Amino acid sequence: MDRTGQTPAACPLRESPVPLYGGLLARDPRHLYDVLHRRWGAIAPVELGPGVAAWLVMGHREVLELVRNERAFSSDARRWNAITEGLLPEDSPLLAVLGWRPALNRLDDQDHRRARHAVTETLNGIDLRRLGSAVRARAGALVHAWAADGAADLVAQYGDPLAWYAFTVLIGLPESAQGEPAALLGALAGGTHDAARAEAELMRVLHRLVARKREVPGPDLTSWLLAHSAHLTEAEVAHNLAAVLLSGGRSTMSWITATLRLLLGDARLHAAVATGRLTVTDAADRALWDGSPVPNIAGRWARSDVLFAGCRVAAGELLIPCLAAANSELLRHGAQDLGSRAHVAWGAGSHGCPAKDVARSIVETAVEVVVERLNALRPAVPDTALRRRPSLWCGTPDELPVVFNPFGPAPGTAAAPPASRVVMGVPEKRRGERAGDGGPAPQRWGWWNSMNGW
Ligand code: HEM
Repeated sequence: MDRTGQTPAACPLRESPVPLYGGLLARDPRHLYDVLHRRWGAIAPVELGPGVAAWLVMGHREVLELVRNERAFSSDARRWNAITEGLLPEDSPLLAVLGWRPALNRLDDQDHRRARHAVTETLNGIDLRRLGSAVRARAGALVHAWAADGAADLVAQYGDPLAWYAFTVLIGLPESAQGEPAALLGALAGGTHDAARAEAELMRVLHRLVARKREVPGPDLTSWLLAHSAHLTEAEVAHNLAAVLLSGGRSTMSWITATLRLLLGDARLHAAVATGRLTVTDAADRALWDGSPVPNIAGRWARSDVLFAGCRVAAGELLIPCLAAANSELLRHGAQDLGSRAHVAWGAGSHGCPAKDVARSIVETAVEVVVERLNALRPAVPDTALRRRPSLWCGTPDELPVVFNPFGPAPGTAAAPPASRVVMGVPEKRRGERAGDGGPAPQRWGWWNSMNGW
């Protein structure tokens, strides 16, 4: 019996699972989730590929239960019955996002706590003021490149390269590595046939970066992770960086797109932000409500057979928390009026996003520069015509073509000089020493003294 006192429905997985691949997602995923929610209620049987079954969990209460109840639901993809029963080929594009890796987002319990501790302490070392300055300088340079044209694609020519630039600075990738890994992230999230190759290529870039930072540390997340007292191996550092890029990179790009799209579609909101009656923070928060930055979380697996949302879920079955549908349900009940925090855009529980402030710093700076600089900004094509990739993991369109009043400088003139790429604060240990708590400088922070910027 389920919690309503009724006998649970026969397992609908064996009835008619909804194919969540191909064209269905390419049109309007929010509409699709609403239709599924109405048809199935809190949980729907879906297929992620031919014969690859999963549950899409859409009720707000059920999504929270799924991500918070770690005794019943695991983040460890090695439990997935599609893997244990050999249903997925090793090069399945689904594994690029849903496969296991030795990183915080794919670990449970003590192993998760160890990696999470290292990653969150390292993220906490980011100096948001410096990061904001670096992002603002790069945003200005990007706008400078097409300002005189009076037209641009705010995804390909602005949001994506800007967010990617921020991540290269954060993890310490050289400027010359720009571009290619960003395309790899897109292929990974897109889940297309080349996702496995993109994943292998991304890991090759990250392994090389980690080896170089071991030799020559710098003021970046990679060097700080290597030096962290959790003593992560080089392979663990590379995989945790991959988790940071996968969980953070695409979502930050999407959040920029979602906020700009919201402003483009709502002239009153745009005017209110442009004249200071609303802040960019208000607009960015609104964009979190429709769930588009992270429409779905990449998986939880039942630890044992369990009755969940009225359905029998077997051990090893995959469940996907659908944040977009959960937020829609709250919106239908007027929850937005209760304040911006009720949404589940950041996830919840011990795996909830550890980088909200970092993401906010990048996204708000990106949106501010557009609002400040581009006059008479308007969409170049109707919203319904925007190209999007059919993926569970991408909530925003792949393009945002706009027109605006063109302005100088004349083509060929130089942009402002680039900002410093040093965005980490002073390591905790060094701060203590500078405050006079005595003791010799620990050897492992010696490299920090050679860095410019403090
Ligand atoms: C600087 C940007 C970001 C970084 C570095 C980052 C990093 C991470 C990391 C490392 C995790 C895994 C945490 C764990 O498993 O313990 C995570 C989880 C998550 N992040 Fe972020 N993130 C960023 C931006 C965003 C944005 C913009 C959103 C959406 C608005 C977002 C939504 C989420 C969600 C929903 C989860 C939970 C995943 C789960 O429960 O499995 N993140 N993030």
